[in-house]
Amino acid sequence: MLTLGIETSCDDTGVAILRDEREVLCEFLSSQIADHSRFGGVIPEFAARKHLENLLPLVDAALRECGISGHDLDLIAVTRGPGLMGSLIVGVMTARALSQAWNVPLIGVNHLEGHLFAPLVDAEDLEPPFLSLIVSGGHTEIIRVDDFGKYELLGQTRDDAAGEAYDKAARILGLKYPGGPEIERLAKTGDPHAFDFPIPLKNTDKVEFSFSGLKTALLWQARKFEDGKIPVEDLCASFQRAVTEALMSKVKLAVKMTGIRKVSASGGVSANGALREALGNAREFRAWLPSKGRCTDNAVMIAMAGRNSWIRGVRTSEVFPDPSLHNLS
Ligand code: KG4
Ligand code: ZN
Repeated sequence: MLTLGIETSCDDTGVAILRDEREVLCEFLSSQIADHSRFGGVIPEFAARKHLENLLPLVDAALRECGISGHDLDLIAVTRGPGLMGSLIVGVMTARALSQAWNVPLIGVNHLEGHLFAPLVDAEDLEPPFLSLIVSGGHTEIIRVDDFGKYELLGQTRDDAAGEAYDKAARILGLKYPGGPEIERLAKTGDPHAFDFPIPLKNTDKVEFSFSGLKTALLWQARKFEDGKIPVEDLCASFQRAVTEALMSKVKLAVKMTGIRKVSASGGVSANGALREALGNAREFRAWLPSKGRCTDNAVMIAMAGRNSWIRGVRTSEVFPDPSLHNLS
């Protein structure tokens, strides 16, 4: 079975072709980071226009690389939400047109379900039930996966997502967008104990997160120093430690509450080395992580999630973009 995956929810244009469950025949990703970083964040209209320029050439390139035509495909899977409206429209409308032109069925995929599948691409031994930590620029949540298609949201952030906190912290420190990789790079030469940032909601007995106060604490700390004398490396290392500890404390709480000792992580922040190390070293559970390149948005995870739904009999009569689509069900 050949599935074409299309991802355009934010600022990455992704196209991938998957054979059967997890064999990646080809994968293309056109990142717009260089275009957006000069503005310090994603500009929605600009992102949509870039998707429009990039998407069809990437689909062509993917078909050529696999030596197939569109008519050979068995399924097209496209992200239908959540995400930026303009970006989603480009992906969904292109997928609808291709589906009609080639007479290939189309399925809409929840972007979060896509992230949930990212660790499964390389992990044949990860079977439900497991817990999935999704930590990206738009979401921070823990989902209980009793089976594919059977999801329960255990808890999420009350305010900023972890990736959003990294991006805002980077902005405060005058670093470029996206902030997570920059903070991680500078943290390598900093002291994680130089500043004792509060670990948000550490002692509550609910699975929930909050990162906006932490970002404000960083702002106040940075303001104590004169321009040019800000200890950026130490601030980055201490901030990264606080985010990692906040995430870890709630993953451990979710493990304790559910008794499920298998945890997967995905989303851009799961590329963070400190978080990967903490998850990998935890004694309370075993962790499955996507390869670093598949933590951020990509089309392989969309193809895999779409195919899995299709095999389970899920059918969507017409696929529409839905920017506010949220919980998995
Ligand atoms: O999953 P993703 O590509 O897009 C969303 O669906 O949001 O995640 C992007 C987010 C950004 O906020 C970025 O700063 C963060 O993931 N990120 C990281 C790292 N790489 C990307 N955060 C911390 N450490 C990283 N290495
Ligand atoms: Zn994402």
